[in-house]
Amino acid sequence: MMARVLVTGAGGFIGSHLVEALLARGVEVVGLDRRRLGEHPIADENLAAAVGNPLFTPLCRDLSTDQLDDAVDGCDTVFHLAARPGVRPSWGAEFVDYAQANVLGTHRLLDACARSGVRRLVYASSSSVYGPANRPSREADPTCPVSPYGVSKLAAEHLCLAHSRRPDSQLTVVALRYFTVYGPRQRPDMAIGRLLFAAYTGFPVTIFGDGSQRREFTYVGDVVAATLAAAHVDARYAVVNVGGGASVSMRGAIEEASKVTGRHIPVQVADAQPGDVSSTSADLTRAGRLLGYWPTVGLHEGMARQSAWLVNLSRDRLAAFTS
Ligand code: NAD
Ligand code: UGA
Repeated sequence: MMARVLVTGAGGFIGSHLVEALLARGVEVVGLDRRRLGEHPIADENLAAAVGNPLFTPLCRDLSTDQLDDAVDGCDTVFHLAARPGVRPSWGAEFVDYAQANVLGTHRLLDACARSGVRRLVYASSSSVYGPANRPSREADPTCPVSPYGVSKLAAEHLCLAHSRRPDSQLTVVALRYFTVYGPRQRPDMAIGRLLFAAYTGFPVTIFGDGSQRREFTYVGDVVAATLAAAHVDARYAVVNVGGGASVSMRGAIEEASKVTGRHIPVQVADAQPGDVSSTSADLTRAGRLLGYWPTVGLHEGMARQSAWLVNLSRDRLAAFTS
């Protein structure tokens, strides 16, 4: 049973869902994010249900620069979701932020965890550590990231595992390799939200390449269930895939979005993007064994839930879908 936990990236898409699930279980949550509540509309909307709950303490900190000891103090478990996400923008000058947030930020958090005797860190890793694959990826497969983002997520995964292997360490680590997550609050740069936005507004979605690329889309509620289960895995360290149970082509996703909304999806085509792999697919054997995990929400139902959320979104937040 968790008493008090830290969630990093609490103001983000997945982090805010995790915060709500923990609060609903009566867990005391410190929610750390570099987005300051009251000044950042995305974090404000994501955490609207958590703010005011006496079990929730928001904390504005940047993992790569601020002191973190008070954030981890008294926490038995740390859920580390804070990162600069997104595959395609990670080339060029932007990489500085990826390196600082994802690599340096993780290193500094791990040091603080070691100082305060945290027992378990659950790390939000990524399918992007695998690189090209022509069958469902298994955790023991060689890693071969093909984007700077994937490199930064793999580097941080290794940092977490190195800490758990230190002979003098109390910290145990479960790294979860999430596969393309979707659902309410999904980041506006991601594909499913852009398809649904196109359906309702007629603003065309740009498809990179010929639409044959495949993704194992994973519903956010399933990701949260796996993340909660990871707190209780009996292991010094483990790496576990978290996928949606099926790999779907972008053309298939467009068809599904059209069925869910009852509308045509206007599409424009652009070049395939460097760093995007042609297919992701997760072998979920280990997730079933270690986490008791199996995805429960399929693409049609998950898209319907995201669609219901999207149509009620504030004007300010909708603007992000066109940039
Ligand atoms: P998100 O951008 O919505 O949330 C990330 C949060 O982390 C943001 O609120 C951001 O402000 C915060 N953050 C970033 N850098 C920080 C720093 N230096 N200090 C403090 N806070 C910082 O992203 P998301 O889609 O919810 O992703 C959450 C995690 O899951 C990330 O680690 C991401 O790499 C991982 N992941 C996401 C997906 C996906 O499909 N969304 C898939 C695989 C892995
Ligand atoms: C997602 C997240 O953004 C990453 O942070 C995460 O680490 C990664 O999943 C993962 O699984 O590890 P991605 O798979 O690129 O990355 O997710 P989307 O942005 O939803 O893109 C899915 C596919 O749609 C990609 O092939 C992309 O090229 C395509 N796409 C996306 C478009 O064709 N047009 C768009 O406007 C957006």
